[in-house]
Amino acid sequence: MSALVSILRVKRGDECNHEVHVATVLPTASSPPMGWSQYNIKDLGNSVAGIPRLPLSMYLCIPACCSCSSVQHHDRTDCTKSGSMERLNIPKIIQGGMGAGVSHWHLARQVSLAGQLGVVSGTALDVILVRRLQDGDFGGHVRRALAKFPVPEIADRILSQFFIAGGRKPGQPYKRIAAISARLSQHAQQLLMAANFVEVALAKEGHDRPVGVNYLEKIQMATLSSLYGAMLAGVDYVLMGAGIPMEIPGALDRLAKHAKAWLRLDVDGARPGDDFRLEFDPQKVWKASLPTLSRPRFFAIISSVVLALALIKKASGHVDGFIIEGHTAGGHNAPPRGAQTVNHRGEPVYGSKDAVDLAKIRELGRPFYLAGGFGHPDKLQEALSAGANGVQVGTAFALSIDSGLNCDLRARILDDIEAGRSDVFTDRLASPTGFPFKVLSLDGTNSEQDLYEQRGRICDLGYLRTAYRRDDSTLGYRCAAEPVEDFVAKGGDIAQTEGRKCLCNALLANIGMPQQQADGTIERPLVTAGDDLEVVRTLIGKYGRDYTAAQVIEYLTAQPVPAGAGVEAPQAEDHFTA
Ligand SMILES: Cc1cc2nc3c(=O)[nH]c(=O)nc-3n(C[C@H](O)[C@H](O)[C@H](O)COP(=O)(O)O)c2cc1C
Repeated sequence: MSALVSILRVKRGDECNHEVHVATVLPTASSPPMGWSQYNIKDLGNSVAGIPRLPLSMYLCIPACCSCSSVQHHDRTDCTKSGSMERLNIPKIIQGGMGAGVSHWHLARQVSLAGQLGVVSGTALDVILVRRLQDGDFGGHVRRALAKFPVPEIADRILSQFFIAGGRKPGQPYKRIAAISARLSQHAQQLLMAANFVEVALAKEGHDRPVGVNYLEKIQMATLSSLYGAMLAGVDYVLMGAGIPMEIPGALDRLAKHAKAWLRLDVDGARPGDDFRLEFDPQKVWKASLPTLSRPRFFAIISSVVLALALIKKASGHVDGFIIEGHTAGGHNAPPRGAQTVNHRGEPVYGSKDAVDLAKIRELGRPFYLAGGFGHPDKLQEALSAGANGVQVGTAFALSIDSGLNCDLRARILDDIEAGRSDVFTDRLASPTGFPFKVLSLDGTNSEQDLYEQRGRICDLGYLRTAYRRDDSTLGYRCAAEPVEDFVAKGGDIAQTEGRKCLCNALLANIGMPQQQADGTIERPLVTAGDDLEVVRTLIGKYGRDYTAAQVIEYLTAQPVPAGAGVEAPQAEDHFTA
C-alpha cells in the first residue's frame, strides 16, 4: 500500500479556517479490494479461538486503514461466524446523531473516513437545506449533491425557490417554509426527500464506508419522506430515539421496495376507533424510474430492557441493534422510572430502576452499544467487556472542530470548559416533547431564564408540534412552547406550557442559522451537551482546542487514525474552498 498525504485549507462557514491533513492509502495491484484488508485471525481476539481462516471473500468490509493489530475497527461477532449474537459488520464507535445540524454531513463524513460510524442528524434538514441555500451555499456542497438527486426537476425547483448567490443581504430574514403536518404537500415531501438525500450523499461522498442517519421518533410527520430521501442516497443505518419506534423497521422494508409506507400518528385526544395515519407513497411523489434501494439497518435508541424486548417482539420488522442510552447523555433523556422526584436544582432524580440490566440485553442476541459518558478509552473497554459492540459518543464530537456548531459559540463553550465554569442542567420542562433535556449553561443563550423570557413566544418552525383531535375529528397542531393563549385555545393544558422553550429556533441558532424575527430580534442559541464534559477537557489537553473528530477516535481507540485512510483523496476544490 502506498500513502498519499495532502493538506487542505478548510473554510467552513464564515468564520472557521483550519488545516486538515488527509492521508489516503491507495491499494497496489496486489492488495485486496478498496476498503478491505488482509489480517491474521489471531488478532481478532479470544472470540475467534479455534475458528479456521476463511477465504478473504467471506470477510466483508474490514477497513483498509486497519492493520489488524487490535480489534478496534472490527466487529468480533462478524469475524467469528459463530455465537448467538447476530453477525454484522459494524464499528466500535458510533458518533451519535446530534440535531439539529450539529452532526452535519462534514462531521459524519470525517468519522466514517476514520473507520467508525458517522451519523448525520436527520432533524429539520428541510429548513437547514433552504437556509444553506439562502446563505449562498458556501463551497457549493448543497448544489453539488442536489445535482445528483434522481429527479432533476425537484432539485431545480428547490434551487430556483431558495438559492441566493452570495447569500442574503444583512438583516434579511430567512424565507419560511410551511411547518410539517400530517398532510404534507407534495412540495414539502419532495423538499424533505431532497434535504435528506443531500445530507447523506455529502456524508458518503468519496468513500464507501457506512454512514447513518438519526431521527427523533417524536417528529413523526417528517419521518417517512425523510427516510426515503436518505435511502435514495444509500444510507446504511437508521438510528432513532426519543420515542418508541415500533413501526419504523417495517416502513424501511416497504420503502426499500418503493412501496407505500405508513405510520400510526400519535394524536392527543384520539378516541377509540380513530385511525390517524401518516402515509407516504414514493410512486406518487415522482414519475421517474425508481432506483434499486437497499434496506438500511435499524438501531433503536432506548433505555430499558422492557423496551428492547417490546421492539424485538412487536416491531413491524427487524430491529438490527440497540443503543442503550443513559441519562447522562447529551440531548433528550428518558424520564426516570418510578417516582418522579427532583433534586435541589429541580433536576429529575434517577435511581436503581433506571439502570439497564446488560445481561438481559446480551441475552437478546442483538448488537448493542452503550451511550452517555462513554467517550473515554476505559469506558469503551468497559462496554466491550460487558458484551456491547461498542459505544455511541456525542459530546466529544459535538465540540470538535468538525462539528456543525457555530464557531463562535463553540469557542465560548470551550472557554467555559477550560476555565472550569461549565455546568450541564437536566431541564425536565424545557423541551416541548416532555422529555428531560440537557441544557449547557452559557451566557447570552436561552439557558439564562431571564433572557429567554424576553423572547416573545413564537412558534414558526413547528417540528415539535403534536397533533390533536378537534371535535369535528379533524387534526389540529399545537406546541407547548407556542404562545400560551394559542395553546390553550387549541385545548392544551396550561400546565404543560410552564417552562417550555422553543428548541426549534434555538437549535438552528446553535449552528449559525438564527432567524431574524419580525420585530428585528435574532433568535438565540440553547446548547445541549452530556454531563461528561471532562472528555472535552482531556481532548483539548491532548490535541488542543481544534481537536478533530479523527482525534476523538484516536483517543478512544488508543490507535492513530489516518483521516481518509482507504478511500480516494477528496478533491480540494470540490470539498473545501480556500
Ligand atoms: C449536541 C447534541 C445533540 C444531540 N442530539 C440528538 C438527536 O438529535 N438525536 C438523538 O438521538 N440523540 C441526540 N444526542 C445524543 C447523542 O446522539 C449521544 O447519544 C449522546 O450524546 C451520548 O452521550 P455523551 O454526550 O455523553 O457522549 C445529542 C447529543 C448532543 C451532545
